[in-house]
Amino acid sequence: MELCVALDLPSAEENLALARSLKSYNVWMKVGFRAYIRDGKPFIEALKAINPDFKIFLDLKLYDIPNTMADAAEEITRLGVDMFNIHASAGAVAMKTVMERLSTYDKRPLVLAVTALTSFDEANFQSVYEKSIDEKAEQFAKMSYENGLDGVVCSAYESRAIKKATSEEFLTLCPGIRPFGEDAGDQQRVATLDLAKQEGVDFPVVGRPIYKDSDPKKKVEEILKEIVTF
Ligand code: C5P
Repeated sequence: MELCVALDLPSAEENLALARSLKSYNVWMKVGFRAYIRDGKPFIEALKAINPDFKIFLDLKLYDIPNTMADAAEEITRLGVDMFNIHASAGAVAMKTVMERLSTYDKRPLVLAVTALTSFDEANFQSVYEKSIDEKAEQFAKMSYENGLDGVVCSAYESRAIKKATSEEFLTLCPGIRPFGEDAGDQQRVATLDLAKQEGVDFPVVGRPIYKDSDPKKKVEEILKEIVTF
């Protein structure tokens, strides 16, 4: 299990200060819409300059026509990040096109597909996808597995079933983690670190419980201690 810290603070300076405070830890840095739209490639470079061993997950959730997605996937690969994601609902052809395009690179990032956003509750999800979260997340996961992706983004509650339906090695990255039961915010399907461990989650993603804490570094230490004792 590897901790992924969401850098969702309002400015590059604040995100970089958080990253600097965590530079001696073996953690992933999640760069999302907010940071990437505002701070772009120089921000990725600044993170690498703080610690060249930081792994970077670019969370842009691509969703477009297959060729446009593959073009974007190539640009992301050239940025030198270690993982990015696409929306599974973009479909099998988009998945295949992205993976084929990246197969020409010696070193490519891990590619994950978003199944159901963890902010969806059941009613809202069904109003869009006309299926239960469980059912659709598993279907999207199988499609992603069959088309060569490395894993999926899902809630901790679907992680075990997804691995059973695909492979133990198929990665699950799960946002909505409230390590020790902290405030859920806008997330609907939150899970503690304990539950994430039971469900075999590979990458727990934690944002607000870390960066809104009065001592983010200590919080990360507590989380890592919990992960290591597993
Ligand atoms: O603050 P919190 O821990 O809820 O942050 C979760 C992070 O994970 C946010 O950056 C959010 O955009 C991202 N995310 C999510 N649900 C997904 C995919 C990504 O919450 N399905």
